[in-house]
Amino acid sequence: MTLHGWTMPGRALLPLVLLALPGCGPEGDGDPADDETLAAELWAAIADYDGWGTPAGWEGPFQSAHMDQWVGVYFDDALAGWDGTGAAPEDAIAVKEAYTDETGATIAGLTVMQKIAGYDPDGGDWFYAEYAPDGTVSAAGKVDMCIGCHEGASTDFLFSVQPPS
Ligand code: HEC
Repeated sequence: MTLHGWTMPGRALLPLVLLALPGCGPEGDGDPADDETLAAELWAAIADYDGWGTPAGWEGPFQSAHMDQWVGVYFDDALAGWDGTGAAPEDAIAVKEAYTDETGATIAGLTVMQKIAGYDPDGGDWFYAEYAPDGTVSAAGKVDMCIGCHEGASTDFLFSVQPPS
């Protein structure tokens, strides 16, 4: 949904209108400007991810099942403490690091998912983002390419909840 281009006399009322509409407001509504903000907040939230745990069997570097790249997966505490049934906890974050080679010494980029209540009910409320190692965002939001594959994952759009088969 986009509200850009609205011209209305009572423009000061717009924030109230936004808060009253379901799916709008601070949680993000798929508006690119909101997705940019969420991507920046998420980058800050993952600043210490390399101290997080890795789900069993998904420690890097391992050869990605879908990228011609070596990768490693990290779960934040919320995701690590989840029992893996039903939906992942609100605000939970998963990070996948991709490396330039099999040593895992140099990071080539990051893909990240965060559960944001109300963000995308049809897509399990996951926000997707892809970053260069310096934090430059190359994709953010309800990214069709990400969703198209992750909707086939075993558990709430996540592949690495269960050990690799
Ligand atoms: C063609 C399939 C495919 C696409 C497209 C894809 N992923 Fe994944 N993703 C996977 C698989 C498979 C894994 C498990 C690790 C591996 O083998 O790479 C994974 C793992 C992840 C993880 C770790 C959590 C988990 O689900 O295991 C994150 C975070 C992630 N991907 C984010 C993204 C983002 C962001 C995008 C879009 C920019 C994306 N992925 C696009 C298949 C895909």
